[in-house]
Amino acid sequence: MGFRKDFMWGGATAANQCEGGIFEGGRGLANVDVCPAGKDRNAVITGQMKMLEMDEEHIYPAAEAVDMYHHFKEDIALFGEMGFKTYRLSIAWTRIFPNGDEEEPNEEGLKFYDAVFAECKKYGIIPLVTISHFDCPIYLIKKWGGWRSRKMIDCYLHLCKVLFERYKEDVTYWLTFNEINMILHAPFMGAGIYFEEGENEEKIKYQAAHHELVASALAVKMAHEINPENKVGCMFAAGSAYPYSCRPEDVWEALLVDQENYFFVDVQARGYYPSYAKTRLTKQGVFPEMEPGDEEILRQYPVDFISFSYYNSRCIAAPGGDQEEAEGNLFRSAKNPYLKFSQWGWPIDPLGLRITLNEVYDRYQKPMFIVENGLGAVDTIDENGEIADDDRIDYLRDHILAMKAAVEEDGVDLMGYTSWGPIDLISAGSGEMKKRYGFIYVDKQEDGTGTMERKRKKSFYWYQKVIASNGEEL
Ligand code: BG6
Repeated sequence: MGFRKDFMWGGATAANQCEGGIFEGGRGLANVDVCPAGKDRNAVITGQMKMLEMDEEHIYPAAEAVDMYHHFKEDIALFGEMGFKTYRLSIAWTRIFPNGDEEEPNEEGLKFYDAVFAECKKYGIIPLVTISHFDCPIYLIKKWGGWRSRKMIDCYLHLCKVLFERYKEDVTYWLTFNEINMILHAPFMGAGIYFEEGENEEKIKYQAAHHELVASALAVKMAHEINPENKVGCMFAAGSAYPYSCRPEDVWEALLVDQENYFFVDVQARGYYPSYAKTRLTKQGVFPEMEPGDEEILRQYPVDFISFSYYNSRCIAAPGGDQEEAEGNLFRSAKNPYLKFSQWGWPIDPLGLRITLNEVYDRYQKPMFIVENGLGAVDTIDENGEIADDDRIDYLRDHILAMKAAVEEDGVDLMGYTSWGPIDLISAGSGEMKKRYGFIYVDKQEDGTGTMERKRKKSFYWYQKVIASNGEEL
């Protein structure tokens, strides 16, 4: 049986991690631009350290990133050479609205994405557009405190309207927010929120989440009105929570972690706050304030499909244990003794992808799309000038096999797969350049030096075959 004939193979990037050119084309400053590399990054992205401007002491890797702003033609040509059916990219909000609340969009910014989509078209690549990949204009953060304010909904919808209308002929696949559940783990990066001393952080996060959920539902409505062909998906950071042991307390804790993440998708896909969230958030005194009509909006405009990132599963123990902690995509979890780990300490668990696919499909019964998956690793150029990234190939092969099993043997409905960072880009979690995911190497080094030259890695040719054989030749 295999993957469907129109399976959407490709790769995924985010504007702030690859474009650079943040002072070009009339672009404004965004939260993602002021997240520094180095020791303060975590405090900034989690909203514990206020940083709304660039200073002299820090390095801001998004400023130049891998300069796709100037290299996009070359890069998309390479995606075309690999046979991409789709390219997931995000729009830098502040290229379109430098402050975020202008009436008129910035034509130069719109033209940039016109050119990007034209390039995709040349190679028969279908764009899959993330409207906001951790992107929030600094001006709106200063004015209203980012997504903690309901005012953000109108600004976001204004952006959506401009995008849906301008790119009506070019784009029919949209994602409203990247990893919407990241708001709970990295609220500044996810939603432009930093905290003042003594604030009720949970309450602010859930209020902001509610605003994004309403905005997402209204974006679905608008997308369908502007073009009935539009398909809109939600996107969350997935990875099933395994209990650390069969001790009921561990099982219970794992269930809570899953619910914390599924909460967002429950609302976006089913259209209402699930009972567990209503009850617990109310008891904790953090249930968001809603306006009359919000619940109807959520109910009326669920998403068309569900997308997620999957890097690893999580292993959860009840509090008070002395088990070792594992790294992994800004989520804290216990170290799973049965798994191997990446150079960054992230667990490697291909079967976990099959488990996640089954869980998500069982829960929502909607088409699914894996929009991120990949191995962040150091790449070395050998004496022949080649990059033999066999570990990456192994990682991807094993995950694709797991997803194949989910499709062929478990009957899950999967639309496509876009691996993360098909071209090297900067890390969202650490801001590092040396953590590379690409099939295409970029000569940009950790200290900022490099020629920006692009180079095909071994995995480039491997992925080309995978796509050409629709996932049969692995
Ligand atoms: C996801 C994000 O959390 O994981 C991406 O959507 C990110 O933006 C990716 O880059 C990998 O994480 P990292 O920290 O290795 O860049």
